[in-house]
Parts: sequence; structure tokens; C-alpha cells
Amino acid sequence: MSLSEPRAPNPKRPLRTNRFFTVGRLEDLPEGAGAIIELDTGAELALFNVAGCLYAIENFCPHRGASLADGELCDHTVACLLHGWQFDVRTGACLTEPESDIETYEVVIENGDIKIKV
Ligand code: FES
Repeated sequence: MSLSEPRAPNPKRPLRTNRFFTVGRLEDLPEGAGAIIELDTGAELALFNVAGCLYAIENFCPHRGASLADGELCDHTVACLLHGWQFDVRTGACLTEPESDIETYEVVIENGDIKIKV
């Protein structure tokens, strides 16, 4: 890895609309798990359950575009499976490379439904 490597643009980053999308049920995402969330707009997010708290981030590693939902989750850090870049799922901060933070999205639970504000 090198700082001079180009960052990949995310073609599936959702446009912000301030709407909540219902994306599933809480019981379907066990603690310590991640899931790919595909919105009907074609956009994609990664959703994680960390000790019962849910976090949504872009499902796109800015290094080379791998799915972060498939990454290795340890506490609040997800590590990309391809080359190991790490991100804080609470803030979207890239812990590996500067200027590589990703977007986060608000998640709420209502009657067991998972809703993400996009
Ligand atoms: S694609 Fe290389 S670290 Fe994620």
C-alpha cells in the first residue's frame, strides 16, 4: 500500500435524502455480524451489529472497492478482507490511511425493524 495509490470512487454511495429505509429485522443480524444492504435505488450499505448496537457505513473500501460488509469485525473496527484497511464503524474514520474516511448513516430500531436514514 502507498499513499500515492489512487482512491477508488464509490459508484454505489447513496444520495442523501433524509428518508428512513426499512432494511430488515433485528433478529436477522446477530451480534458480531455484518450484512450487505441493497437499497431499491441501487445504492449499497454495510450494516454491522456490535454488541446490540447497529452501525451503517458505505459498503465500499476506498482503497480498491471491496465490500466492507464482508470484512472482519472486531469491536467497532472492521478490517477490509482484501488488504486490511481498517475503519471505525461508528464514525467512518479510516484507521489505516489519512483522507480515506467513509460515510456513516443513522440507524434506528422500531418494533424490531431496522431503519437506516439515507
Ligand atoms: S480493497 Fe484494499 S484494503 Fe480494502
